[in-house]
Amino acid sequence: QHCFTKSPDGFLYCEDTKVQDIMEKVEKRPFYLYSKPQITRNVEAYKEALEGLKNSIIGYAIKANNNLKILQHLRKLGCGAVLVSGNELKLALHAGFDPTKRPPSSSHSVCSSGLLAGSEIKVRLCIFNGNGKILEDLILAAQEGVFVNVDSEFDLENIVTAAKVAGRKVNVLLRINPDVDPQVHPYVATGNKNSKFGIRNEKLQWFLDAVKAHPNELKLVGAHCHLGSTITKVDIFRDAAVLMVNYIDEIRAQGFEVDYLNIGGGLGIDYYHSGAVLPTPRDLIDTVRLRLQILLIAVTMPVAYSYMNYFASWSDFQAVVRELVLSRNLNLVIEPGRSLIANTCCLVNRVTGVKTNGTKNFIVIDGSMAELIRPSLYDAYQHIELVSPTPPDAEVSTFDVVGPVCESADFLGKERELPTPAKGTGLVVHDAGAYCMSMASTYNLKMRPPEYWVEEDGSVTRIRHGETFEDHIRFFEGL
Ligand code: LLP
Repeated sequence: QHCFTKSPDGFLYCEDTKVQDIMEKVEKRPFYLYSKPQITRNVEAYKEALEGLKNSIIGYAIKANNNLKILQHLRKLGCGAVLVSGNELKLALHAGFDPTKRPPSSSHSVCSSGLLAGSEIKVRLCIFNGNGKILEDLILAAQEGVFVNVDSEFDLENIVTAAKVAGRKVNVLLRINPDVDPQVHPYVATGNKNSKFGIRNEKLQWFLDAVKAHPNELKLVGAHCHLGSTITKVDIFRDAAVLMVNYIDEIRAQGFEVDYLNIGGGLGIDYYHSGAVLPTPRDLIDTVRLRLQILLIAVTMPVAYSYMNYFASWSDFQAVVRELVLSRNLNLVIEPGRSLIANTCCLVNRVTGVKTNGTKNFIVIDGSMAELIRPSLYDAYQHIELVSPTPPDAEVSTFDVVGPVCESADFLGKERELPTPAKGTGLVVHDAGAYCMSMASTYNLKMRPPEYWVEEDGSVTRIRHGETFEDHIRFFEGL
């Protein structure tokens, strides 16, 4: 079930509410419109995928969308938070995330706390990521008990300093750069060996020794990787899972009791609305789960076989293998952003006018690259449609959909087949929930737009005020 649907009479609905009706009630400017139930459904899809993986953690990547109301909702649904700055940490705390709430350590029980056991997600873990974390932010993270992903030698030094200042040992994961090509736009690829993120395997020993050298400041709790974003091939996650389990083995072989396998975020969505079958959260988790099991079974098989003679049946054998798998006792962490929030939202715009220059037709709208920069920055495709029916005889043409900003890079869509819209017609850019508002700017003094959501009962609530000219002037008060 998806939140935005066209009715047979050609009107766009968000859940059961007509988008046109919403446009008539709110301020006359571009706005973001979310479906709260869709956010819930997206989290449920991840929870279902993780069923049976007790202590697994959905760490929502706040960078995708930092609306406070949305964060509070995600927290209530059971998500943890993945942060990339001190301010994101402060916001997570403000939204009620509790970084100290986490699963029991693996030493408690082999059978009740492993990758295959249990179901309910009860943890809220916060994880601090980034290749350039500054000391001040790391100190706050240390004070709050946030897990920190170590990205480099200098990062490790800073984390040690932060632990000393905070007087608290910091739980760290090593962010491994696994050199797996995510096959995405180069700007959103992070797991290749030449990227600025993470630790290459030839340096792993240095980091393990450095952790050992700081027993009072650092506790190594796991390994992390994040390959990139908009990934649409599930094999890529499988390859990464295989490599990461090997790293975990290597790290454990040196006596570290690591509990967490963090496979990052990056699952893509169907921006083209092509109906193409893309991997779902379940495909992603099943792939990782399957790889873990196959690998672990491969490792444990010789032991299991040696007991084979004593087993009455195949299911006894499986039970033992399962036991052995459970004894690995890893808590799986995932860090989705886009796949939780992108498809829950549209940027709603109004058509200012239509014009033609040379061979190009343009629909000019009031929204722009300032509110939604992904097409300009990554040449990203986001689906565009009108919110209301056009007369049956309306001419269909190929248009570039552009904003009013003084740049030729200011486009929301290129070469779209659309009926020629009248002035004032509503036009939406779909899948605007992730990396749109959070990347919005005030370029050309187009102040950041308001945000609304449709609630379960169909009511429409403002969840962020639109910024105003007065907000801009306030930065100069008293100067
Ligand atoms: N974890 C880490 C360490 C990350 O760097 C990211 C995203 C995520 C998780 C969440 O990834 P997701 O599930 O959302 O793909 N502005 C770009 C996307 C940049 C992604 C940055 N890192 C865009 O609009 O496509």
